[in-house]
Amino acid sequence: MQLLALLVALPVIAAQSDYAESLLIKPLPRNKALASFLFDTLLSLFPLTYTNSSSSGDHAILSVAKHYLTFPKSIEPIVASTNTRQLHLRFTQGWWDTESWGRLPHNGSHTGGTGVELSAVIEAGSLEEARASWLKLALSLSGFFCALLNFVEDSLTTFPRHDVSEMGAEFVTSANNSLFLMRAALPEEPICTENLTPFLKLLPTRGKAGLGSLLDGHKLYDSLWHSMSIDLITECDSERCSLKLSQNIDHIIDITRLLRKHRLGNILKPLSGDQLRCDLDKKYDDWTCFPLTDETVFEWDFQKIFGRTIKGACFQDDNSSSLIQLDLNNTSWSATVEKSKGDSVHIHDAGLVERLEGTYQYNVNLRTSDSRVVNDIEKPPIEVSRSLTGYSQDKGGIRVNLKNPSKEESVRIVYFETLPWYMRAYLYTLKKSGGGHIEAQFYKPAIDRKRPGHLELVIEIPPASDFTFTYQFDKSLLRYAEYPPDANHGFAIAPAIVKVLDTQDSTVYQMRTTTLLLTLPTPDFSMPYNVIILTCTVMALAFGTIFNLLTKKVVTEEEFEAISKESKVAQIKARISSTILALKGRK
Ligand SMILES: *[C@@H]1O[C@H](CO)[C@@H](O)[C@H](O)[C@H]1NC(C)=O
Ligand SMILES: *[C@@H]1O[C@H](CO)[C@@H](O)[C@H](O)[C@H]1NC(C)=O
Ligand SMILES: *[C@@H]1O[C@H](CO)[C@@H](O)[C@H](O)[C@H]1NC(C)=O
Ligand SMILES: *[C@@H]1O[C@H](CO)[C@@H](O)[C@H](O)[C@H]1NC(C)=O
Ligand SMILES: *[C@@H]1O[C@H](CO)[C@@H](O)[C@H](O)[C@H]1NC(C)=O
Ligand SMILES: *[C@@H]1O[C@H](CO)[C@@H](O)[C@H](O)[C@H]1NC(C)=O
Repeated sequence: MQLLALLVALPVIAAQSDYAESLLIKPLPRNKALASFLFDTLLSLFPLTYTNSSSSGDHAILSVAKHYLTFPKSIEPIVASTNTRQLHLRFTQGWWDTESWGRLPHNGSHTGGTGVELSAVIEAGSLEEARASWLKLALSLSGFFCALLNFVEDSLTTFPRHDVSEMGAEFVTSANNSLFLMRAALPEEPICTENLTPFLKLLPTRGKAGLGSLLDGHKLYDSLWHSMSIDLITECDSERCSLKLSQNIDHIIDITRLLRKHRLGNILKPLSGDQLRCDLDKKYDDWTCFPLTDETVFEWDFQKIFGRTIKGACFQDDNSSSLIQLDLNNTSWSATVEKSKGDSVHIHDAGLVERLEGTYQYNVNLRTSDSRVVNDIEKPPIEVSRSLTGYSQDKGGIRVNLKNPSKEESVRIVYFETLPWYMRAYLYTLKKSGGGHIEAQFYKPAIDRKRPGHLELVIEIPPASDFTFTYQFDKSLLRYAEYPPDANHGFAIAPAIVKVLDTQDSTVYQMRTTTLLLTLPTPDFSMPYNVIILTCTVMALAFGTIFNLLTKKVVTEEEFEAISKESKVAQIKARISSTILALKGRK
């Protein structure tokens, strides 16, 4: 009845959809390139509803779904049934080389730390309800994205403090509900092709046309660094809301390696002697070769690097666009675009922005005479390194070094870190050194198996200076069953997040540190095995001896001969030999 009432109350409005996709190609030093895909889908004008999770699970928002044109239907029930107002999901793998590649794409706003990161803003009447919705959300997404998000639980979940101010205070909630921002990270989760397929399914083109048709898991994940993100944001005015879905894939292509693979196949064989590029100024003969650095003159195209070409524009209407941006200004690179349809092929010099249209097949060809000439990389506003210190079995430390490379401006940052409960940090051991000071600090200690440790620091660092802080922690002993199968490999500790703030306290740049690998005191899992082996050997030896003693009789040789004469075998033998003798006699 409730649902019916809601349905009647809804004014029937056509939801307006917009879709835009773009691909940015940017050459980087040492024959690398950044490829950055961005897919934006907008669903606007629908009334916001709140699903009371205690009552039955129908959600009225589905009635609007009929008007969806480009917005994915599959994600909507998940979001509606958990009252999720914002959803941020990140899959990242690899190491971003700041020195060679500069700033993160999009100023880091779409990039997560190694592994999987999930954060969401959930509307709920109480904290318990929010937690229940959060776990339900993680479970649904786990199935949806084939990721182990079902491991998200209370002992991994934090409530970040600083981000709350960026959550959108103007957001209107129904009734007297509150918004809860929750976050969890799984640094050990591997990323592979099965995570890409659901990502493509969310696109209105399903990856069959437009820029999505360029994405092939095998090529995409064969890169030095890659990051895939999904951001869903609800924006509301007084009564209507819009859902904005941004999907983003960034990856760093190693052009030389992919071209070599393209030439020689997937199995990399060593080059034969006459194909080696040797430095002829140095000693050079049949046995000696000083290799030259990578080639600097070469060309590549989308077919070779992505394994595919682009199958036309995403849609043929005015509300959607497919763009290729080539960041080639001032570099030695130049590009041509090959447009083909059936037998007709049209090639033209690429501008800095290419708009895709119609059902043409697009292939972009890039060539250079000296790949070392690229645009200067943009320096990030902060450099961070985090490491483990200490070598004892049950104690350790963390050392974080923050560096402000700018010569003129000071930088204000928020340092966010979450520590698993088995790292018991002691904040009184916090030691600071170098320029800069901690403006504010927030620490929530962990509770064993219930809650992770949560540290947030606001730090100001003056121009051209370093700030270092260290603190100590104790390592806990886990229960036997809590160790992973490869316990001696160590435990991945989620990356820390560093956000650079502007004067209005909003984030202008963010980055993650690398994961840490923590070794915990690990019991010798081979011990029980050794004990079992040893016991079994002793048992077998003892059993064999005793069994022999019990079942066998000791006799002398004479006794044996006497017995054997009377034995049945001897009688049969004697009978046979007498028969033979008798036969011989008859002859
Ligand atoms: C395209 O956009 C215009 C105005 O922005 C809107 O009136 C129209 O309904 C949109 N078309 C579609 C198919 O969404
Ligand atoms: C949700 O439903 C339960 C039981 O139906 C009710 O007690 C509670 O007040 C409802 N909460 C809201 C926010 O409507
Ligand atoms: C990144 O930040 C810089 C400086 O704050 C700004 O100039 C630039 O436009 C930003 N880039 C993006 C993609 O937002
Ligand atoms: C919200 O809470 C206030 C007091 O806490 C109460 O008077 C009001 O009725 C509540 N509104 C709704 C819609 O539940
Ligand atoms: C590209 O560089 C030229 C000069 O080298 C400049 O005139 C032009 O404005 C630049 N275009 C863009 C889009 O930066
Ligand atoms: C290209 O070089 C010109 C002059 O050196 C400079 O003004 C311009 O900003 C550069 N463009 C890019 C995209 O770096």
